[in-house]
Amino acid sequence: MLAPPALAEGLEARGEWSAYEKGHGQLPPMGWNSWNAFYSDVDEEKVLASAQIIVDSGLASRGYRYINIDDGWWLKRSQPDGRMIIRTATFPSAAGKSGRTSFRPLTDRLHAMGLKAGIYSDIGRNSCGQTFGHGGKNNPAGTLEEREVGLFGHIDQDIALYFDEWGFDFIKVDGCGIRGMGADNPNVASGIYRTFEPLIDFNSIARTDVRAVQALYQHVADALERSNPDGDFVFSICLWGSADVRSWAHDVGNLSRTSEDIGPQWGRMLHNLDSAARRALYAQPGSWNDPDMLFVGTGDFDAHHLVEARSHFSLWAILNAPLIIGYDLREATPDLLAILGNEQIIALNQDAAGNQAVLAFDTDDLQIYVKTLADGGKAVAIFNRTAAPLNATLDAAHLKFVDKAPVQLTDLWSGESLSFSGEQPLALAPHETRVFRASGTRQLPGGLYLSEMPGSVNVAEDGIVHPEPDPSIHRTIISWQGTHGAGEPPRYAGWGGARADRAPYGQHLQIAGRPFSNGIGVLANSRLEVRNKNFRRFSAMVGIDDSSADTAQRVRFELYGDGELVAQTSWIGFGQQAQTLSADVEGRSIVELVSRTADPTERPVPVTWGDAALLQ
Ligand code: GLA
Repeated sequence: MLAPPALAEGLEARGEWSAYEKGHGQLPPMGWNSWNAFYSDVDEEKVLASAQIIVDSGLASRGYRYINIDDGWWLKRSQPDGRMIIRTATFPSAAGKSGRTSFRPLTDRLHAMGLKAGIYSDIGRNSCGQTFGHGGKNNPAGTLEEREVGLFGHIDQDIALYFDEWGFDFIKVDGCGIRGMGADNPNVASGIYRTFEPLIDFNSIARTDVRAVQALYQHVADALERSNPDGDFVFSICLWGSADVRSWAHDVGNLSRTSEDIGPQWGRMLHNLDSAARRALYAQPGSWNDPDMLFVGTGDFDAHHLVEARSHFSLWAILNAPLIIGYDLREATPDLLAILGNEQIIALNQDAAGNQAVLAFDTDDLQIYVKTLADGGKAVAIFNRTAAPLNATLDAAHLKFVDKAPVQLTDLWSGESLSFSGEQPLALAPHETRVFRASGTRQLPGGLYLSEMPGSVNVAEDGIVHPEPDPSIHRTIISWQGTHGAGEPPRYAGWGGARADRAPYGQHLQIAGRPFSNGIGVLANSRLEVRNKNFRRFSAMVGIDDSSADTAQRVRFELYGDGELVAQTSWIGFGQQAQTLSADVEGRSIVELVSRTADPTERPVPVTWGDAALLQ
C-alpha cells in the first residue's frame, strides 16, 4: 500500500458519501405550491381546489404529490408561549378550541387524498412579505412580538408543531428575515419590526456571515430529523443562491434555490435556468438544485405560448429540478395539463440515476443538454433560447455515441422516431426545445465517464477559496424593480466550481495542448466523492488545465478507494503532459479524487481529470 501524503484541510479521504441523504429527496419532489399562482393571497379553498384537480386530472398518479402552502398562512405568534396561530379567516378548518389553531384537519384531508402537505417559514424573525412588502396581503398581525412569525429563536418549537402536531411532510425555509431587516428597512426604522443585523448581504459574499447562515439551517435540519424519525420530510432551503449556499446545501437539505424568484417572463426563466444549468455536479439523489417553481400556465408560458411552456417544463425536468406547479389549476386548459402530465418528460426528471443533464453544447443562442439515464440510455434537450427560428445539428458525439453506428431518437413531445449516423440537422422554432430519448453505441463501452454520472459524484471540496459571482447567468430585468437603478449585476457565488466536461471557468478541457471532450474540470485543492457500484477500474489523464492563468504552481493527483490511497501522480507543473492515473477499484464503493497544490497558500489552479471514467 502507498503511504498517504500529508493531509490538507478538507482533502482528507473519508471513504464515505458525505452528501445529504436524509428526508425524502431521493428523487426531485413533485407537486404544487400556492406562491406563483396566488402570492400571499392564499386560502384553504384554493389549496384544496388545486389538490382536487391534481388528483382528478391524473397528475397525482404521475407523481405530483406535495401540496405546499407558501407565505400568507400565518396570523401571529401567540405570547408568551410562542405558539404559532393560523389565519382562520382564510383557513377556517384550522380554528380550534381556545384559539389553539391547527392545520391537522387540512393535512388529514390532503393525506386522505393520497397527497402530502407542505408548509413555509423563514429562518429570521420576520417573513418575506414583512421584509419586502409583497403587496402586504395577509401579513401577520398583532404586537411587534406577535408579528415575529419566523423560526428564529423558535426552531425546535415550530418544527415540532409543524411536523409532530400538524402533520406536514415538507417545509420551505426562506431567508428574508436574515437579509432585509437591517436598520435601513423603512419598517424597521419606523419601529414596526425589530432590527435584525443582516447575516446576508445579497451583493457581497464578504459581508455575508456564511457560517452563521449555515448553522441556522443546520439547526432546522436537526430539528426535522428529531420530529420525523421515519424520515418522511423534505427540507427546501430558499436562500436564492446567496450565502455561498451552493457549497454547503448538499450537506444540509434536500433542495436549494439557486437564484432569486422566477417570474412569468422568458428572460426570467432563462436567468433561473442558467443559475442551475452548469451545476450538474452539485446535484445528487438527496439534494437537488432548485431553480424555483414552475410558471407553466402564466404569462410567457400560458395557453397562448405552448412552445415556451413546453420548453420551461422540459428544461426543469432534464435538470432534475423539483417539478412544483405554480399555477391556478382551476384555469388549466387541456393543453397545459398535457404538458404538466407528459409522462415521458416526467420520467426523465424522476429517473433513478439522478443525473442532472450536462451541457454538451453551450452558447447564448442554443444549448444542448444531455442526461444519462439509469438504463444507460440518454435523453437530450436541444434548446433555442432566441426569438428566431434556428437550425441546429445534433452530433452523435454530443451523446458520447460513436459516429459510425446508427443513433435512434424518439421525440418525447411528438412521439416521432428518427435515426441518423454522425449528425442530425434539427429545425427549431423560436423558443422551442426538442427533447429526445436516444440510443446508440457508446464511445466508452462497458464504462461510464464521470461526466455522465454527476448524480454519483459529490463535490465535497471544490477548491474555491474566495467565492465569486457567476457571470455566465442571463441577466434580465427584475420584474419587481423594473428599469430603476443600474440593472442586475452577476450574482450567486459559485463561479469556478467543479464542472462536467468543462474547465471550472467554462473553457474546454485541455492539458498541454491536448483537448479532452470528456472529463471533470475543478480547481486544485479539491476532493470529489464518487459512488462506485460495480466497476473494477478507475482511469483518467490528469494535469493542470491550460485555462490556468498561473503557470508556476505544481499539483499532485491522488486516488482513494474506500479511504485508502490507491494511486497518485508525481508533482505536475503547468504545460506538462497529462499523466495517467488509474487503479483497481473493484469492491471499493467510494472512490475519491483529490488534487492538491504544492503550496497550499496559493489560489488553486484549474485542473483536469481528462477522460475520467469508471470501467469494467
Ligand atoms: C421569497 C421566495 C419566494 C416566495 C416568497 C414569499 O421571495 O423566494 O419563492 O416564497 O418569498 O413571500
